[in-house]
Order: sequence, then C-alpha cells, then structure tokens
Amino acid sequence: MSSPDGSAGPDLEAVVEAAGRAPSIHNTQPWRWVARDGVLDVRADRNRQLHVADRDGHSLLISCGAALELTELALAAQGWAPEAAVLPDPADPDLLARLRPVRQDRPDELALRRIEAALGRRSERRPFGPEPVAGDVVERLAEIGNGEGVYVHFPTRADENLDLAVAISQADRSGRDDPAYAAEMAAWVRADDPAHDGVPMASIPRVPAGEPRHTDIPLRDFEVGVAGGQLITPGVDEHPQIAVILTETDGDLEQLRAGQAMMRLMVQAELEGIASCPLSQSVDLLAFRTRLRTLMGWTGYPQMMLRLGQRPAEPPAPLTPRRPVSEVLTRE
Ligand SMILES: Cc1cc2nc3c(=O)[nH]c(=O)nc-3n(C[C@H](O)[C@H](O)[C@H](O)COP(=O)(O)O)c2cc1C
Repeated sequence: MSSPDGSAGPDLEAVVEAAGRAPSIHNTQPWRWVARDGVLDVRADRNRQLHVADRDGHSLLISCGAALELTELALAAQGWAPEAAVLPDPADPDLLARLRPVRQDRPDELALRRIEAALGRRSERRPFGPEPVAGDVVERLAEIGNGEGVYVHFPTRADENLDLAVAISQADRSGRDDPAYAAEMAAWVRADDPAHDGVPMASIPRVPAGEPRHTDIPLRDFEVGVAGGQLITPGVDEHPQIAVILTETDGDLEQLRAGQAMMRLMVQAELEGIASCPLSQSVDLLAFRTRLRTLMGWTGYPQMMLRLGQRPAEPPAPLTPRRPVSEVLTRE
C-alpha cells in the first residue's frame, strides 16, 4: 500500500498480524482486511459467524470492534494516523471501517507500548490471585474504556454482584442445556492438532467433576466431552472484578464501539499487570441482554463483560493461534 502522495505506506502485514491478536468468540476470527488505493478496509467475515451462540451477529461485531481497535493502534505505532470512517456504506454492512492512514512526524510511543501489550495478551481463565484489583487501576480502566456513547461499569455493591451472578448463571445454564450450543462449541475446541483458530485445550482449565470452582460467577465451560489441558489450583475462593461495557443506544455501530472499548480495557489491564478474560454468556444473545438490562435496572445497553484480576503465579498457557496474514489480508 502506498500513501496518496506516492510514498511508501505502512507495513500492512505487521498491522494485520498485530490486529489479528484481538480476542474473538471461540477464537473464530470473523474478520478480514482489504487494502487498495491508500485505504485499508476492515470487513466482517460472516462465514465465521457462530450460528447458535451468536445468532444475531453481536459477538461477531464485538470481536471485529476489538480487531478494528488494534488495527488503528498498530497503524499509530508505525507513525500513521488512521482516519477512520466506521460503517461508511449502508448498502455494504460488512464493511465495518475504512481507514485512510495519514503520515505523522514520528511513531506514537504510547501506541507502541500498547500494541506490544496487545501482542502478549491472552484470555486468562484460571483463578486469579487473591488481591483485588486496586482502586486506582479500576479508575484508569474506566477512563480508557469510556468513549463515544460507551461506558464501563464496575459493580461493587454486594447485592448488585449477586444479581449479576444469578443472571450469568441462568444464561450459562441455558447454553449448557442446549445440545446445539454444546456441539458448536465442541467444534471450536482444538485438541492437539495444529490449528489456526478455535480454543486450544491448553487454554482450558481442567475442573474435575467432584471439585467445582469456588465462584458465584460461572465461566463458560469449554470442557464439552473433553478434559481441559490447563491445571488449576483447586478450592480457591474466587472474587473476580467484573467490568460491564454498556452503550447509551444499541445497534451495529454501538456494538463495534463496545468491542473497541473492550480491547482498550484489555490492553490497559495488560499494561497494569492485570489478567483479563471476556465473559459473555449473558450478553451473547439479544434475549439475554434484554433480560439482564431489566434485571439489573441499567439504563444503558449491556454489550460485554470482562473478568479481571491478579495474574496467577504459575506461567500462563501459550498464546492461542491465529490464521496467517495471507489468509486475512487481500490487496486489490
Ligand atoms: C465477543 C467475545 C466473547 C467471548 N466470550 C468468552 C467467554 O464467555 N468465556 C471465555 O472464556 N472466553 C470468551 N472469549 C474469549 C475467546 O475465547 C478468546 O478471545 C479466544 O479463544 C482467543 O484467545 P485469546 O483471547 O487468549 O487470544 C470471548 C471473546 C470475545 C471477543
């Protein structure tokens, strides 16, 4: 890609490689990039949308919002200001953003640090360390997450956390009871085979049948007919910090913005030495989101949740794989 004045453009392979490290539901990576005439398009790949767990494409947009955020960050880290038009063409809803990189004097140092943090991030599903996330860290996370029509809420009251736990448990149970949901998830769990997508066994905690985790807030259970490959310390009382990302209105644009906010939060958490993991059973489907909003009495629309806490002392699982850049970047 060359810039409009004919000079060499950004290193798009590096940009797409970094952006592809975004989290996505079941590591489906439902995105692709198209470069042409000084612009870089970020597109949704509907072939990779989950038909059961993501019937209305909500998780796809959250995932793509995260990838969009990292695309912009990676361009900034290379010294390009990414002028972005989000959802620029109503006739082409899968064109999520058109970026026109504009050369800056120098690379953005903060963006560089953030992109490095994004490259080392992973979804941490093990019990967190016992210390709560410090108040000043929560404040900084809220500050970075808040954006255009998007805000982050950290439930603190005991009754609110209890209501939230009930709502998440109900949604989790309804997924577990649905054979189609379990079958779809099983299809995205990867055993030893070298794969470029899906959730590897090594990133799934092993929870023995007689030793359930001591947490009110259930994690999505990827152990569908398989035992996870990640050993965890049994009997740990878990009190994760939950972050809820809400939007003032609801629609595709807001869901993309929520995905961007989630990515900013996860990168900031990584910079702060805090582990994070998306927790989306109660927001995947519209019916659950509607029920959650009513139950919690929130005026905003809940779009996404994160579980945050101190990194466990033991080393983390390897980074999960991604598809090669050649599969997701097209040049026209
Ligand atoms: C919209 C969305 C929903 C997700 N929901 C969950 C979830 O409920 N539970 C979970 O453990 N991970 C969840 N994840 C995390 C993905 O499984 C994870 O990003 C993916 O496997 C890639 O792994 P990584 O984040 O470690 O790179 C979700 C991610 C996204 C973007």
